[in-house]
Amino acid sequence: MLRFLTAGESHGPSLVVTVEGLPAGLAVTLDDIAGELARRRLGYGRGPRQRFEADELRFIGGVRHGRTLGSPVAIEIGNSEWTRSDKWHAEMSADPGETAAPLTTPRPGHADLAGMQKYGFSDARDVLERASARETAARVAAGALAKVLLSHLAIDVISHVVRLGDAVVAPTSPRPAVDDLDTVDNSPVRCFDAAAGDAMVAAIKAAAAAGDSLGGVVEVLAYGVPVGLGSHVHWDRKLDALIAQSVMSVQAVKGVEVGDAFEVAGARGSAAHDAITWDGGSDRYRRETSRAGGVEGGISTGELVVVRAHMKPLATLNRPTLATVDTVTKESTVSFKERTDVTAVPAMGVVAETMVALVLAREAQRKFGGDTVSELVRNAEAFAATLPDPSP
Ligand SMILES: Cc1cc2nc3c(=O)[nH]c(=O)nc-3n(C[C@H](O)[C@H](O)[C@H](O)COP(=O)(O)O)c2cc1C
Repeated sequence: MLRFLTAGESHGPSLVVTVEGLPAGLAVTLDDIAGELARRRLGYGRGPRQRFEADELRFIGGVRHGRTLGSPVAIEIGNSEWTRSDKWHAEMSADPGETAAPLTTPRPGHADLAGMQKYGFSDARDVLERASARETAARVAAGALAKVLLSHLAIDVISHVVRLGDAVVAPTSPRPAVDDLDTVDNSPVRCFDAAAGDAMVAAIKAAAAAGDSLGGVVEVLAYGVPVGLGSHVHWDRKLDALIAQSVMSVQAVKGVEVGDAFEVAGARGSAAHDAITWDGGSDRYRRETSRAGGVEGGISTGELVVVRAHMKPLATLNRPTLATVDTVTKESTVSFKERTDVTAVPAMGVVAETMVALVLAREAQRKFGGDTVSELVRNAEAFAATLPDPSP
C-alpha cells in the first residue's frame, strides 16, 4: 500500500521522495507534479524565496513511458538556488569539515533548541535545515501522484483558507466545489469568499508593516469519498485519526478538526450530530448536515469529508523580538532571523490537501486492493454496485 519517504535539507542540492505502493498503469507526468508544486508557492505574504525556489523536477525511478510500473516511484526536486549560485555549497557540503558560522541563538517556536539537545548539535542549522517546511515540497510531489490515483475513483481533494489572523470567513459563506478550485487559487490568499479575502490581505499588510506574522485556518474538502474507507476495529485504522495525524504533521499545524469538532464540543448532543435520512431518488442514505465531517466511527460515510487545519503564526519574525539564549554564552538575546514569510496559511492548505489525499489514496487501496489501476477501479465499482446495503 501507498507509503512515502522524503529526504533532503532546505538549502541542499535537492529533495527526493520515494513513493511506494502505487498500482501499475497510472498515467503520470512531471506536469502533474509541477502544477501542484506551483500551487504550494501561492499566497500573499510569502517572501522572495518562493520566486527562486522554482522546482526542478525529474523522475528517477518507477515511471516508464508516462505510466507507473508498480515499482517505487522516486522523484528528485532540485533546488534552483543551489544550481544558480554556490552560496550554500560550502555551508551544506556533505564532505567532512565544519561551518564557519554556527547558529547558536535557537529560535523559539522551532525545532532548533530541542533538536540541538536531542542530537547533540552545537549548530542550529543541523536541525533547522530538515525541520524547515521546504520538505513539504517533497510531500506535495507525492500527493500529486495520490491525487491522480484518486481521480480514477472520482475523488477530489481541494482546500480554501477560512481564517487568516483575525479575518474570518462567515460560517454561512458557501464552500467551494471542485470546479471552484481555480477561483480559490486565483485569490491572493486562496480564499473563496472575496470580501473575507480582502480582509485577509489587509491583515497581512498590517502584520508585515509591524514585522510580525499571522496564522490561520484552512478547510480541506474531499469530494466523492465512498462509504467504507477506514475502520472502527482498531485505533490505528480510524480514518479521522489517520487524517488528524497526517495533517498535524504539517509544519506549524497545531490543531486538526474533522467536521465541526471544535464547535460541537460546546453544543448539546441533540444539536451535535447528523441525522440519517433515506433518499429514494438517489437510492442512498444521506446526512443532511456535515457536523461529523463525513466520518463516523472512523469510517467514511459517503458524505463530504471536511477537515480543518489550524496553523500557528510563523515563529520567525522579520523584526527579531523573540527572546532566546545564546547556547555558547548562555546570555539572553533575540533569535536570529532566517528568511521568513509573514504567513504561509494559503500554502499550508495545499500541503494539507496533499496529506489528506495521501491518506485517502492509501485507505482506498486498503479497501479495494489491486496491483493495477483498472483492478482498483473495478473493485471499487463492484463495491459501489452492492450499496446501499451490501450483504455477505
Ligand atoms: C508552507 C509552510 C511554510 C512555512 N514557512 C515558514 C517561514 O517562512 N517561517 C517560519 O518561521 N516558519 C515557517 N513554517 C513553519 C515552520 O516550519 C514550523 O513552525 C517549524 O518547523 C516548527 O515546527 P512546529 O511548528 O510544527 O512545531 C512554514 C510552514 C509551512 C507549512
